[in-house]
Amino acid sequence: MLRKFLIVATMTAALFASSESSYPSDWKSFESVNTPLATIGALPDCNADVSSLPDIYQETVATYCAVKPGGPGAVEILVNSKAKDSFNKRDGIFPDGAIMILHLKDLKVLFVTTYKGNKPLYSIYTEDGQDAANVEGSGLNPNDCRTCHTGYGAFCLNGQCATLK
Ligand code: HEC
Repeated sequence: MLRKFLIVATMTAALFASSESSYPSDWKSFESVNTPLATIGALPDCNADVSSLPDIYQETVATYCAVKPGGPGAVEILVNSKAKDSFNKRDGIFPDGAIMILHLKDLKVLFVTTYKGNKPLYSIYTEDGQDAANVEGSGLNPNDCRTCHTGYGAFCLNGQCATLK
C-alpha cells in the first residue's frame, strides 16, 4: 500500500513539475548585462577545464554540461529594465514580477527569476512559452535552482548570483 502510494506520488510529481511563475511574454524587452558568465558567453561541455572558476560556476557547468553534445552553448543574462538599479547595486531588493533571465540562446530556453513579496521564484520556459520544468534533480526543477542559488553562502544575494562585470 505504502509502496503503491509512493509510486503514484512520484509519478504525480513528475507529471506536475511546473514553473513557479508565469511566462514573461515581454522577455525580449529585457536588457542584456555583462556578468562573468555573460563575458564567457557560453556554457561549455563536460570536458572543459573549469577548475580555475569559483565552485558555484564549476557546479553550474557540471549540472548542465551534458544537456546536449557540445554543452548548452551560448548564453546571455537579461534584466528587466525596472530592476536594473537593484541588479547593479546588488541590494537584494526587487520589485514584483519577472526580473532576471538566464537565456540559453542555443537551447532556446529561459531560466527566469521572478519576485513576489521580495522572494525569488524560479521558472523554466522555452522561448515561446512552454513550461519546461522537469523532475527534481534534473537541473530543470525550481527546487534545483533554489538549492544552488541559496547554497553558496553570500555568493548569491536573495536569488541574484551574478555581479556586474
Ligand atoms: C549549480 C548552480 C546553479 C543552478 C542549478 C542554477 N543556477 Fe542560476 N546561476 C548560477 C550562477 C553561478 C549564476 C551567475 C552567472 C553569471 O552571470 O555570472 C546564475 C545566474 C542566473 C540568472 C541570472 C541572474 C542571476 O541570478 O545572476 C538567472 C535568472 C538564473 N541563474 C536562474 C536560474 C534558474 C531558473 C535555475 C533553475 C532552472 C538556475 N538558475 C539554476 C548558478 C546556478
